[in-house]
Amino acid sequence: TKMLFNDQIMERGNLIDIEDRGYQFGDGIYEVIGVYDGKPLMMDEHLERLERSAREVQLKLPDSISVLKRNLEELVAANQLNEGIIYMQVSRGAAQRWHEFPGLDVTPVTVAYTREEERMTEVENQGANAVLTEDIRWLRCDIKTLNLLPNVMAKQKAVENNAVEAILHRGDTVTEASASNVFIVKDGELYTHPANNFILNGITRRKIIQLCDELNIKVNEETFTVNELLSADEVFVTATKSDIIPILKIDDQTIGTGSPGDITKKVLQEFRSLYQ
Ligand code: PDD
Repeated sequence: TKMLFNDQIMERGNLIDIEDRGYQFGDGIYEVIGVYDGKPLMMDEHLERLERSAREVQLKLPDSISVLKRNLEELVAANQLNEGIIYMQVSRGAAQRWHEFPGLDVTPVTVAYTREEERMTEVENQGANAVLTEDIRWLRCDIKTLNLLPNVMAKQKAVENNAVEAILHRGDTVTEASASNVFIVKDGELYTHPANNFILNGITRRKIIQLCDELNIKVNEETFTVNELLSADEVFVTATKSDIIPILKIDDQTIGTGSPGDITKKVLQEFRSLYQ
């Protein structure tokens, strides 16, 4: 398969310098964009978020967003990707390993590749289990950076417990999950953590809030506690490509009836209409 390396589409290979700052420091930012039927979903929103992440870590993107968009579309075409994801990252570049930013002569390194992935229709329809774990990340979780070790460790805990996700809490407050946002349903209304420095403001999350507005389902962007999570009527997690996964059980606690709830199913159906 082909990859994008800076401005060029080329055969995938080992082009990354051992002193790339993404590799050594996690000093860079990334996006994952879903591709459905050969078409990237909400590409503009993802690229806008990339721009924001870049700004927040003072990384100057080498290419304009419109050039980036064109290159990514070209990559999807070159790989004839039908179902899957685009992964792209921009690191602060390759330079002698000193912690501070390198000089202005060092250009950020952009890489992107695609991966074929089946749609996750079955787990989206049937739901899955989650585990709870303490959110040990930093205080700028709103930036989509390459530093994912706490997320990796949380997801590993989930997998070891036959769960799809690890739901994170800071003390008593539920923030998000290792690689997705968390929504709960209580008395017909949705609740999700407000978009501040404690969570990544998911593109899927934002779209769901917009769709619910059109469906007249109230969404409260308010924090909720671990107890409120466990006693919710419905719980679901949202992310690129896995869309919406109903959570049936968290640790040993069954959520609601133990099967995907009516509001969750309705929101999922509405979300699917974006690409079906
Ligand atoms: N993860 N929160 C975290 C910590 C995430 O890593 C992600 C996405 C989300 C959901 O964001 P979105 O709806 O924009 O995909 C929330 C991607 C998919 C990943 O790291 O693979």
